[in-house]
Amino acid sequence: MEQTAKNWWQSGVVYQIYPRSFADSNGDGVGDLPGITEKLGYVASLGVDAVWLSPVFPSPMSDFGYDVADYTDIHPMFGTMADFDTLVEKAHSLGLKILLDYVPNHTSDEHEWFVESRSSRENPKRDWYIWRDAKPDGSPPNNWESYFGGPAWEWDEATAQYYLHLFDRKQPDLNWRNPAVREAMYDAMRFWFDRGVDGLRIDVLWLLVKDEHFRDNPVNEEWKDGDFLPSRQSRVYSEDRPETMEIVREMRSVAEEYEESRVLVGEIYLPLDRLVAYYGGENLDGVQLPFNFGLVLLENWDATSVRKLVDEYEAALPGDGGADGGAWPNWVLGNHDMPRIASRVGEEKERLAGMLLLTLRGTPTCYYGDEIGMKNVEIPPELAHDPQGKVHTSYGRDPFRTPMQWNAGKNAGFSDSEPWLPVADDFGEVNVEAQSGDPDSMLALYKKLLGLRRESSALGLGTYSPLDDAPDGCFAYIREDGEEKFLAFLNFSEAEIEAPLPDGDWVVEVSTRPGREGKVGGSIEMRSYEGVVIGAR
Ligand code: GLC
Repeated sequence: MEQTAKNWWQSGVVYQIYPRSFADSNGDGVGDLPGITEKLGYVASLGVDAVWLSPVFPSPMSDFGYDVADYTDIHPMFGTMADFDTLVEKAHSLGLKILLDYVPNHTSDEHEWFVESRSSRENPKRDWYIWRDAKPDGSPPNNWESYFGGPAWEWDEATAQYYLHLFDRKQPDLNWRNPAVREAMYDAMRFWFDRGVDGLRIDVLWLLVKDEHFRDNPVNEEWKDGDFLPSRQSRVYSEDRPETMEIVREMRSVAEEYEESRVLVGEIYLPLDRLVAYYGGENLDGVQLPFNFGLVLLENWDATSVRKLVDEYEAALPGDGGADGGAWPNWVLGNHDMPRIASRVGEEKERLAGMLLLTLRGTPTCYYGDEIGMKNVEIPPELAHDPQGKVHTSYGRDPFRTPMQWNAGKNAGFSDSEPWLPVADDFGEVNVEAQSGDPDSMLALYKKLLGLRRESSALGLGTYSPLDDAPDGCFAYIREDGEEKFLAFLNFSEAEIEAPLPDGDWVVEVSTRPGREGKVGGSIEMRSYEGVVIGAR
């Protein structure tokens, strides 16, 4: 019997928008909500089901919105609450769900809670954040380091204590051991759910609780020069503490207070066995989708490595894994923190990567601009904004947050005035308008794949079975549901390969390369770096 998704987010596809860089409606060089609303028709036309907006809340923008100064309002730079309501209404009328970014680990130091907390040791909100005495020699309470460089502790002269910030000093960590913090933060979730928001992407979910004894983190013996600096320490006492799951479950209960339960997508960078723990064990009462960053972090894009990654992930999922029970998988190629997929895998393989994302079993999330092949943009130091890049120069995130390339006009159609980050040089060819008229473009490929996925329960919800006899250099798998069956055949090598096909009448539905259609049988001649989806329907 064919499966029907119990939840929209199982067969659905999510599209991430970085609001500062999507569309600027008021000519200040920064994207905004009315800009996004205008472009929702484009987003819907791609064939995705939901939009996740990176933060749009009031913020001094020290970490570009991931430093929230008010969880229940909109930053005037992005628009008004009325603009937000209009966006949600339009999205819903187009059949798109809306997911917001929820940043629970830390607030801005300009949030009124922190302003109160730092005002005196006796303030009732003192314990809403993590304050500790200095060591006898005046140094910080322990050796924890900030992700953005330097100690994770900032001295507060007025009240003579240190406060903890795992990111910028302007992002103090909330004290999730305090029940009042939990209640206030759960109310913030309800605020948006009550306004019609369909789900939340939860920022750095695995960092919420810290060791109650504040023990020093040990040195990471595997770290070597040139590796990501924050990994010098093995962050066992500042992250992924056992008490975190209790909070994850409470968040899930808030999502379940609603008739159509809201979806929670957790940002979690942890090894596989720890990542899948955030589903909540046997009861699956954690987040519905703990982000699987396997493909974002994958270094070798060859058939063997990709298959290994997919199979290990599939095997690690708790429960029976079907559409109707068990943990539901998810995949993503990039986001606002990681180099763009087109730059990581190069031109030969960027289409294969897109085909993989949209044909694997599990909810895909697409990062804006990847559907037209946008690349990292080199940002000269004087134009750099990202706090992480200012400390770890090779890890600046501005290059993958540049303006969306809409057309070949001024500023790629993003804004009438100078954009906050430069537009890529390639915008003359790499833009939505140019690719819309080209049946062989990256955009056309994304649309075909998304269209096929939408109309097919095999691709949306079906089983995944890798083909063991795929030739070297190829990764192939069958997605099947009831009568419907698709075979994704991906040649990650330069070689042309004659590949045997399983018995059946197969028809090529989509190829990453032009000039391939019609029936195939017996075997298929795979061109270099070609991917095809062939169907037996
Ligand atoms: C998450 C966000 C990142 C931000 C950090 C601190 O990793 O994705 O952009 O800098 O959290 O909030």
